[in-house]
Amino acid sequence: MYEKYQIIKNSELAPRIKEMDIYTPLIAKVAKPGQFVIVMPDEKGERVPLTLVDWDHDEGWIRLVFLEIGVTTMKIGMKKVNEKLFYVVGPLGNPSHIEKYGTVVMVGGGVGVPALYPIARALKKAGNYIISIIGAKTANLLVYEDRMREVSDELYVTTDDGSKGFKGFTTDVLRKLLEEDRKIDVVWSIGPAIMMKVCSDITRNYKVKTIVSLNSLMVCGMGMCGACRITVGGETKFTCVDGPEFNGHLVDWNELLLRLNMYRKEEEYALKKLRGEENE
Ligand SMILES: Cc1cc2nc3c(=O)[nH]c(=O)nc-3n(C[C@H](O)[C@H](O)[C@H](O)COP(=O)(O)OP(=O)(O)OC[C@H]3O[C@@H](n4cnc5c(N)ncnc54)[C@H](O)[C@@H]3O)c2cc1C
Ligand code: FES
Repeated sequence: MYEKYQIIKNSELAPRIKEMDIYTPLIAKVAKPGQFVIVMPDEKGERVPLTLVDWDHDEGWIRLVFLEIGVTTMKIGMKKVNEKLFYVVGPLGNPSHIEKYGTVVMVGGGVGVPALYPIARALKKAGNYIISIIGAKTANLLVYEDRMREVSDELYVTTDDGSKGFKGFTTDVLRKLLEEDRKIDVVWSIGPAIMMKVCSDITRNYKVKTIVSLNSLMVCGMGMCGACRITVGGETKFTCVDGPEFNGHLVDWNELLLRLNMYRKEEEYALKKLRGEENE
């Protein structure tokens, strides 16, 4: 029998991209597509938000997929099977609104693809026709292709360098589908903020509803600290409690992109310290 926050599985899907199953029966029981958890690897560590990619209500585990990009995600990735995380809190955020929209285009970039997977699965189950466009910088960084194929009626793959699928960006394929006059009722986009911004810019001209899942910096995850604040339709919103999904046409993207880079210096310093290249 596992203990709470014990790691059941930790595998590398691609360089620096980990898939981890964690025993958290209470979260697994109520998890819904579109929600996330906050993970703290050790007592002194930072808290980082990660999307719920899958879960099993009966067996009590949740699955996360994350890019080891900085100190905290690296510390989580270094944990071995059977070791425990300090804590995992969730599920947080509002679940995705699942209904029969008609034709839904799912646009996923990088580790946004696994985050999109449970939403695509639920939308497919609700009777939607799913067109997925998934992309990565290069072929060996593309993850969850098989799982997205299972829940899609059409699937397009893009890589920035052309090593697999179309050479170019996911947004190039989206633009092409819209130019071809394909009937699209909703676009769902998860990935780097710049990709979600470009998706929203493209679909705005075609008046296609576009839902984005924002990756603002977060601290508390409960609407108290304000770290995740963004502007949507001229109003201040907190990504953690009002989101993480928003209407992409109303998001102030320039503000979000600026805020994502706010602590770049401190993050680089922390990373050097972890690698032993800096002293206190
Ligand atoms: C609701 C939500 C869900 C998320 N789900 C996932 C997920 O499923 N998988 C995953 O890999 N990541 C996800 N993220 C992003 C993840 O939380 C960050 O990558 C993580 O916090 C980085 O922490 P760190 O200490 O490892 O890196 P840091 O040292 O904090 O940062 C290292 C680098 O990453 C950039 N960065 C930091 N935080 C973010 C962020 N929120 N978005 C984009 N860039 C960032 C920094 O600017 C810096 O360049 C999610 C973010 C949110 C808000
Ligand atoms: S993370 Fe603290 S208010 Fe959203």
